[in-house]
Amino acid sequence: MNRIGVLTSGGDAPGMNAAVRAIVRKAIHYGIEIYGVHRGFMGLINSDFIKLDISSVGDIIHRGGTALLTARCDEFKTEEGQKKALKNLEAFGIEGIIVIGGDGSLRGANALSKLGIPTIGIPATIDNDIAFTDNCIGFDTAANTVVDALNKVRDTATSHERTFIIEVMGRRAGHLALYTGLASGAETILVPEIPFDLNAVCDKIEKGYIRGKLHSIIVVAEGAANSMEVGKVIQEKTGLETRVIILGHLQRGGNPSAYDRILASRFGGKAVDLIIQNTKDKMLGLINGELVITDIEKVLSATKPLDMELYQLSDVLSF
Ligand code: ADP
Ligand code: F6P
Repeated sequence: MNRIGVLTSGGDAPGMNAAVRAIVRKAIHYGIEIYGVHRGFMGLINSDFIKLDISSVGDIIHRGGTALLTARCDEFKTEEGQKKALKNLEAFGIEGIIVIGGDGSLRGANALSKLGIPTIGIPATIDNDIAFTDNCIGFDTAANTVVDALNKVRDTATSHERTFIIEVMGRRAGHLALYTGLASGAETILVPEIPFDLNAVCDKIEKGYIRGKLHSIIVVAEGAANSMEVGKVIQEKTGLETRVIILGHLQRGGNPSAYDRILASRFGGKAVDLIIQNTKDKMLGLINGELVITDIEKVLSATKPLDMELYQLSDVLSF
């Protein structure tokens, strides 16, 4: 293989830049030409390629976001869109592609593999909702961002003796909510994977106040409930002053943590090793500290289960 490409797609995640840096430098180390694709799959359709060298990826290991830019591209979901992408890749002599992104992006990678292009997927999403890897790039950083925000909320919640509902991202999954709720000592964590009863949540809050608690923090995964509604119901039922905060996109930004930089560097380096062997349709993951390689097809047909041990622990520790 003489020439490969790399793209970042879907929701950005801190550490994507560190992965691109590793891919570019490892490819150059092997004497392979490496092209960056701008704006994910949209860049394949628009032939938006840029040749990268060692210095193109200088000074980005510590930056959040993605220097290659990202996009959500519906056209790539169509057969015509994919055919255009294939034509452009062939015209440019790009023989393999490394796709960095979430589950949608892995579906795109799978589509490229089916067209016959060696494709490697690198999981990167703050939602951490991809099976066959303990962590996706960006999750650790986002979790720390949320915990930092929750520390601050706790200060004001205590001063005013208020209940705070904090909505965190995660799309349809509760991994980020569970992880940050446990790390922040939240009284209750609402996740889409587990049914909940708001009456029981209110009882718990009231018992806490009777016991002398000065505040309550309820973490709500965006996919679990409408946090504004949750806040309204809790205020009405408990009579306690309640505020709602939607943390939103700030969870996706910021300098990647050391953990995410190392994860990204390991995934990036290994992805180049695989692609130069013409490997098709594989995703890299990290399980118990070891790099693992799984068929993208298999990854996409699985759902990452919520860590029930963590959930039960958070429940026991938070009454
Ligand atoms: P993420 O990768 O963060 O989950 P999305 O779900 O928005 O983000 O997916 C990113 C992009 O991946 C989409 O905009 C589209 O270009 C591509 N994609 C998603 N699903 C498919 C699919 N079934 N086939 C081909 N491409 C897809
Ligand atoms: O997948 C990452 C994510 O941040 C989700 O947590 C969230 O639901 C979604 O992307 C938000 O998407 P957008 O950036 O298009 O608003």
